[in-house]
Amino acid sequence: MTDIDRARPIPPSEQPARLAALEAAVRGRTDLVPRAGIVLGSGLGSLADGLSEAVAIPFGDLPGWPAATAPGHAGRLLLGRLDGVPVAMLQGRFHLYEGNDPGLVVQPVLLMGRLGARTVVLTNAAGGLNPGFGAGTLMVISDHLNLTGRTPLMGPNANEVGPRFPDLTEVYAPAHRERLHAAARAEGARLEEGIYVGLLGPTYETPAEVRMFRGLGGDAVGMSTVLEAIACRWAGIEVAGISLVTNPGAGYSGHPLSHEEVLAAGAAAGPALARVIRRFVRELP
Ligand code: HPA
Repeated sequence: MTDIDRARPIPPSEQPARLAALEAAVRGRTDLVPRAGIVLGSGLGSLADGLSEAVAIPFGDLPGWPAATAPGHAGRLLLGRLDGVPVAMLQGRFHLYEGNDPGLVVQPVLLMGRLGARTVVLTNAAGGLNPGFGAGTLMVISDHLNLTGRTPLMGPNANEVGPRFPDLTEVYAPAHRERLHAAARAEGARLEEGIYVGLLGPTYETPAEVRMFRGLGGDAVGMSTVLEAIACRWAGIEVAGISLVTNPGAGYSGHPLSHEEVLAAGAAAGPALARVIRRFVRELP
């Protein structure tokens, strides 16, 4: 395998050729056309257990993709059927804090779109900024604050994929938010709604930052999702987002935060999230 420079800038203008190569590599293994794409955040990988007839492709097998490095992330693209519905799933993702260029961070969701997914479901583990959102809270993302300081759309545009100046008035499709709430009601799962603050990481926040982000209107905070959501809207892919709040934000709980705590809460609340997403996918129009 050749060495991948994960930090090499990938402007939008380079995405079409890269996506064509990725699409060809996937099509060499399966002709399944996904109805939806699902990105599984830290500790949420178990949703993949429900896939049938699945083809699994390690990230490192796909052209231009490095193997995943974050603990709790398997690093595979899966194509298969979830309750009969053809889907693509990303078990793990590329994060900015791993040194990945924003253009690489968003390639998996753009690839899902290219393979046929009209909707992408973004999930993540997050810290609670809203004092009412304790560990185990599921939150539909209504909007986001991109505080990463990065964008996947810097550099020459690819007008055939999307516009130079994409509108972000409704990043998280209102109809999908309604469908998620309906799915949660049917599954007897409690689902909140709120604003996701996306940061670079990899540190968790300071208590002062948690107070600031709360003051800015945030309900949950994490290290992913916002760039993927932006790229989806650029490319005309509809987005649904859910955060699993794995811990209260730094400073609320009175004890230090660990990655193990985050993974454990993800494992505990993961099954409820999985049920909601399965029903959401089953009931897509
Ligand atoms: N902050 C940022 N990202 C996170 C957190 C947090 O508290 N918990 C899980 N992911």
